[in-house]
Amino acid sequence: MGRGAHVVVIGNEKGGSGKTTVAMHLVVALLRMGFRVGCIDLDHRQQSLGRYVSNREQWVGRSGISLPMPQMGVVRPSAAEFKSQAIAEERAMFDAVLAGLAEVCEFIVVDCPGADVPLARHAHTHADTLVTPINDSLLDLDLLGRLDPVTWKLKSAGVYANLVWELRQERRKTHRSGIDWVVTRSRLSSIADRNKQKLAEVLPAMQKVLGFRLADGFGERVIYRYLWLWGLTVLDLNQPGIEMELTKSHQAARVEVAALLESLWLPKVAERLGRI
Ligand SMILES: Nc1ncnc2c1ncn2[C@@H]1O[C@H](COP(=O)(O)OP(=O)(O)OP(=O)(O)O)[C@@H](O)[C@H]1O
Ligand SMILES: [Mg+2]
Repeated sequence: MGRGAHVVVIGNEKGGSGKTTVAMHLVVALLRMGFRVGCIDLDHRQQSLGRYVSNREQWVGRSGISLPMPQMGVVRPSAAEFKSQAIAEERAMFDAVLAGLAEVCEFIVVDCPGADVPLARHAHTHADTLVTPINDSLLDLDLLGRLDPVTWKLKSAGVYANLVWELRQERRKTHRSGIDWVVTRSRLSSIADRNKQKLAEVLPAMQKVLGFRLADGFGERVIYRYLWLWGLTVLDLNQPGIEMELTKSHQAARVEVAALLESLWLPKVAERLGRI
């Protein structure tokens, strides 16, 4: 990436796996560490990350309390009549927006929609780091790898793992570098059930074969969803002017976010982890 901005793409073609939740916490964590952060929301329809940033701006306007803000890059859907033309236009627009952000940011976080769309594929080829949150469910796991129901052994790669493999080859040609692919389990329950135990057994065995690293994800916590409307995260709560008690669950959430940041091995992050 020009000027050395590190691009983190949050992707998984499975919908509702916690991508936007991870994206907004990652953005705020990096901002709180003092980095200049850009972000791009590729979900044209839902615009959850874009709306989150706009909620944050409005909260700052209403409260008069200043918060660190990311720089939002907008890639608009093409109005071209032919599909191939629309794809080419959107790719060119994405490249231009990314290059613009890379001039002024140290990190760029790209939130992908929960579907296999051409622009999300293209974004993956720009990923220095790819983060894939998955719901703790065998159904969601199938997109990564297909398991034998008797032996629990990996039979073949799933559709998303195949796609990442393909896009890694493409990236090697265009960028001459690889993608550090990190998979995290989302919305982990606090109860030790059979499903949770099984995923904990099979996922580590899939890492080497499918080419990802496993990292601890976020637990199922109300605080990860409650603050969206104000554009805040649990990392903002001890900022002067925000009167919200930090409960034990909130503190545990902050530890989870910091742990995720640590496991992503992003440049210069290790030395600033204490700031979040
Ligand atoms: N750790 C968590 N604890 C509690 N709720 C969560 C957690 N992570 C995500 N959620 C909630 O789960 C839902 C899906 O999360 P999110 O929107 O982040 O997923 P997504 O992968 O971005 O979805 P899409 O594919 O539709 O873009 C949302 O209602 C979100 O608030
Ligand atoms: Mg989303």
